[in-house]
Amino acid sequence: MRAKIIQYLRKSEGFLSGEDLSRWLGVSRAAVWKCIEDLRLDGYKVDAVPHHGYKLSAVPDKLIPAEIQHNLGTRKFGCDVRHFNEISSTMDEAFRLGMEGAPEGTVVTAEVQTKGRGRLGRAWVSPKGRGLYFSLILRPALSSSEASRITLLSAVALSEAVEAFTGLKPLIKWPNDLLLNGKKLAGILTELRAEVDRVDFAVVGVGLNVNTTAKELPPEGVSLKEVSGQVCDRVGLMREFLRSFEKRYLTLKKNGFAPALEEWRRRSATIGCRVRFEERGYKYEGLATGLADDGGLLVQLDSGMTIKRMAGDVILAVKESKV
Ligand code: BTN
Repeated sequence: MRAKIIQYLRKSEGFLSGEDLSRWLGVSRAAVWKCIEDLRLDGYKVDAVPHHGYKLSAVPDKLIPAEIQHNLGTRKFGCDVRHFNEISSTMDEAFRLGMEGAPEGTVVTAEVQTKGRGRLGRAWVSPKGRGLYFSLILRPALSSSEASRITLLSAVALSEAVEAFTGLKPLIKWPNDLLLNGKKLAGILTELRAEVDRVDFAVVGVGLNVNTTAKELPPEGVSLKEVSGQVCDRVGLMREFLRSFEKRYLTLKKNGFAPALEEWRRRSATIGCRVRFEERGYKYEGLATGLADDGGLLVQLDSGMTIKRMAGDVILAVKESKV
């Protein structure tokens, strides 16, 4: 009934009487009134004028299903949204749902995470109502080694969504950080549940600094608001991501990873840069020359030898040349 009332209020240009609403919904006027009260608690502003009825004057800036699904237009991604005002980490809840058999496309969103986590054991700062914090359940027909490239595809979809929604074009730092003005705008964490050589499900977690203030951000972080000077509609951006992700995911099923990897290379902040990293206690430095088809980063070391880095991170130095 809630979703229906929001729909009716959204469609109507003027006031809607309680009597009409109760007739259309087949419930009592008291039930309509109770539901409107609940909507108000969720942040909907519903004006009520005697003899005129109800009018929607503002919707909440919350990652709730009714808002995300409004004019979403995807077939799968975002059709089931589980929203939490506060959660330790959306990854844990999505993983739990995945184990219970939740369908592909289910999304867990949160306004605040008390234990948001990032890659390589880092924390993800998740101040209340400022960013996008969500996890997406996937059930790809892939092996674990193939599925790790889903993170690269997600970074492409996220960069495309930010560009389409804001006009800002974040670049991708290998493997999947989004950078704006050289600082970290977003991070992606993929966790898999796999059997011998088949992924049972994957959880893709996205953290994006949207309206986060400089004070709330870690020193290496940046938000859309910090760069544009404008408050950004988190729900609208979330919808854009779900559309762009669904497109990329359908292309993956039809044409494999090649199209997403091609776009990753175009949006790369890493290729053409000198990079540094450590592996098994050894320090390496060289020029990042490309992204291999399996998602590995190709680095030409100063000795002339080219090696492929498959996991971990790299530190970026200045961009040397276009390769
Ligand atoms: C990284 O850059 O290290 C990845 C950061 C991923 C953060 C997101 S926020 C939503 C989801 N829940 C988490 O605890 N982490 C991911």
